[in-house]
Amino acid sequence: MSGFSAESIEQQLVAIRRQLHEHPELSHEEFETTAAIRDWLTEAGIRIVEHGLKTGVIAEVGGRNGGPVVAVRADIDALPIQEETGLPFASKIPGKMHACGHDFHTSAILGTALLLKEREQELQGTVRFLFQPAEEKAKGAGLLIASGALAGVDAVFGMHNKPDLPVGTIGIKGGPLMAAADGFVVEVEGRGSHAAVPEAGLDPIVTAAHIITALQSIVSRNVSALDSAVVSVTRLHAGTAWNIISEKAVFDGTLRTFNEQVRLAVRERLEQIVNGVASAFATKAHVKWIEGPPAVVNDQKWADQATVTAEAAGFTVVEPIPSPAGEDFAFYLKETEGLFVFLGTAGPQEWHHPAFDLDEKALPIAASFFASLASDALRKLADERSRGGRPHSEII
Ligand code: NI
Repeated sequence: MSGFSAESIEQQLVAIRRQLHEHPELSHEEFETTAAIRDWLTEAGIRIVEHGLKTGVIAEVGGRNGGPVVAVRADIDALPIQEETGLPFASKIPGKMHACGHDFHTSAILGTALLLKEREQELQGTVRFLFQPAEEKAKGAGLLIASGALAGVDAVFGMHNKPDLPVGTIGIKGGPLMAAADGFVVEVEGRGSHAAVPEAGLDPIVTAAHIITALQSIVSRNVSALDSAVVSVTRLHAGTAWNIISEKAVFDGTLRTFNEQVRLAVRERLEQIVNGVASAFATKAHVKWIEGPPAVVNDQKWADQATVTAEAAGFTVVEPIPSPAGEDFAFYLKETEGLFVFLGTAGPQEWHHPAFDLDEKALPIAASFFASLASDALRKLADERSRGGRPHSEII
């Protein structure tokens, strides 16, 4: 079973994408989006799986004869950005915009569901669709996992549109694709005084300045040239007036890493620098971590399969450059095997830009690619089972 053509539903997918684009909803508030997805699926006779969450939709196609289960995930939320594309179907909601293309993901994967529904009898298992809320807060994947969305799932697949890849190309690679995205807040406690009498106080701004400078040595001096990391301080608050030495300085920022060892080592180093420098200036400081998603680390087995599937369908496979952005799909890959790909959408701007846009010709490509991948994956898993293949957890 292969060769899914999405030509017949292209116009429908474009209409769905534009409707979603006009009505963006922020993380955890995707009520209208959820209702619309349910309606589209129900109209197509696709069964909805109730999950008890406020937003998001789970649906299934196939599965009448048991067999393996694969999940295909699309994120559905938008961002607090004022749209500046000037498109005729631009956001109708002030200050909110699908500036990361999750409207594209949702409509494309709806297309996948429609294509697979048409040939449901041929499927060698179940395809479960996860229309996931709150990706931008990195919370939705965890909510779905806690609701049991991955129960029985043998492999999970997902994508992000990629503005810098041409339409018709799919970025596929095993190993790390997107970064672990942690946040940190550092609070430096000093002692206030008159600015003219600094010796009576302990200036937290001087301490913070030294810490921030020293943090830049982590990537250059503590991370191997063969690994990578980003340490960015993005905000700094201290003081109330020009003639007062403040009591406290607070700064925060983000840490991006592609493997768990580097992640932990950088976190440890950051804490050492904060505490050591603070102590050198006789101040106190502490670090609060805002735990983000881990890195998206793809299974080579599914990268290989997806490459075969994509090339058989006539798409160009490219080796993508990993992105230092975070993606909560990583949580699914902690639970089961799977693959996250970049789908070329030839956009004029990067993600989260107010003029973000994409080429809708990529919609049927994404829909048919994931239909083919899900069906090929089920066949592969069914073959493994019939050959008495061991479950993945036992493969070393
Ligand atoms: Ni996104």
